[in-house]
Amino acid sequence: MQPLTAHPSGPLKGRARPPGDKSISHRALMLGASAIGETRIAGLLEGEDVLGTAEALRKLGATVERVGENAAGEGAWRVLGRGTGGLVEPDDVLDLGNSGTSARLLVGLMASHDMSVFLTGDASLRRRPMGRVIEPLSRMGASFEARAGNRMPLLLRGAALPVPIRYELPVASAQVKSAILLAALNTPGTTTVIEPEATRDHSERMLRHLGADVRVSDAGKGREIAITGCPELIGAPIAVPADPSSAAFALVAGLTVPGSDVTMTGVGLNPLRIGLFHTLREMGAALDIANLRTEGGEPVAELTARFSELKGITVPADGAPSMIDEYPILAVAAAHARGTTRMQGLAELRVKESDRLAAVAEGLERAGVRVRMGEDWLEVEGTGGPPPGLDAGTSITTHMDHRIAMSFLVLGLGARRPVTIDDGEFIDTSFPGFAGFMGALGADIRRSGEIRMAGA
Ligand code: S3P
Repeated sequence: MQPLTAHPSGPLKGRARPPGDKSISHRALMLGASAIGETRIAGLLEGEDVLGTAEALRKLGATVERVGENAAGEGAWRVLGRGTGGLVEPDDVLDLGNSGTSARLLVGLMASHDMSVFLTGDASLRRRPMGRVIEPLSRMGASFEARAGNRMPLLLRGAALPVPIRYELPVASAQVKSAILLAALNTPGTTTVIEPEATRDHSERMLRHLGADVRVSDAGKGREIAITGCPELIGAPIAVPADPSSAAFALVAGLTVPGSDVTMTGVGLNPLRIGLFHTLREMGAALDIANLRTEGGEPVAELTARFSELKGITVPADGAPSMIDEYPILAVAAAHARGTTRMQGLAELRVKESDRLAAVAEGLERAGVRVRMGEDWLEVEGTGGPPPGLDAGTSITTHMDHRIAMSFLVLGLGARRPVTIDDGEFIDTSFPGFAGFMGALGADIRRSGEIRMAGA
């Protein structure tokens, strides 16, 4: 356990590039491992979740190595792939730590290989539902043994003769969609996924980038995605943009700490990831986009946030997938806003790294913010001023969840009293160096009990 305390801070100022996008980093490694030849990846996120995917792919026979870094210290990586269908049976259990994306996507990738694989993860991942991938992948010919409730650890027996499916997703989930698309790589014929609502399409974009035939059409509010099996994927360079979900923490800090003006550079602005930014603007945020361009097949820009007086709004269920990881930090912004913010369509938050709906409600209450919570909704009553923060000697429970940890540290920066979280260790899964990154912008985040040196 590594308690951290965020102290009310002066204005945050400056420019910085957040680490690489987590979703795109996982996919770059997995698709690189499935391609022929070399895939060079610039700006890969070197967080524990992605490093876990890299280690698993090595056990599956791919060469995955860090070959250098750029001036900013961002990693340059090289993957030598095995071609579609070329993975080999690992001789040990794959431990995927805290990462649901590693688990769901790798299970998909391996499900169409004739091999047996044992998988596990940490206590948080072992609580998360795997039935959502087990069900479609079983239809493709894989079989599974899992714990009660389809939880990990599990044993996957990949299909020797995988069959293509046409599958309508029961939940809007990019992980489940991607698991099926990855299984389809070594499956003859056309595999089709229909999603009820559009979810992040990094898999589709990158599959095309490496040479797969992926066709996307609108289907009501969602999309139909068809992929032709057994493509010859060819390794190609991939530039990973900065993660909008990580940029969100510094941007909300900029909006809520008086006098702040912060710019996040190189941020990926995939239209299916930017629900938070639209919502914050609707709340009155001074959030500007500049230098919009396309890099590596994804839109990228600079985002500047200046301290703003926010107002409460209703955030409809529509579009929840475009900000699914951002509700904890949105709730922090809502705690500063004048009036009530109501967020709807949050059922999926219950099965993230923690039950995020409960964790956010519990933490905000502890920090003196009034909330109401239902099965799939949350209301936060903002006062239009800084939230109270914590009583001395108390802390927020982070439940092994990186985004709960970072969100409540941001709350502490703009609160009247400091906020301590019980454990900052899990931050490294997605945002290694978070406290230092925020510190360079002027945030005062320390290990609990640490004394800040004058001038530091
Ligand atoms: C992800 C999809 C989302 C998101 C997760 C990353 C991905 O999960 O919460 O952090 O990379 O595909 P779901 O597919 O479960 O919504």
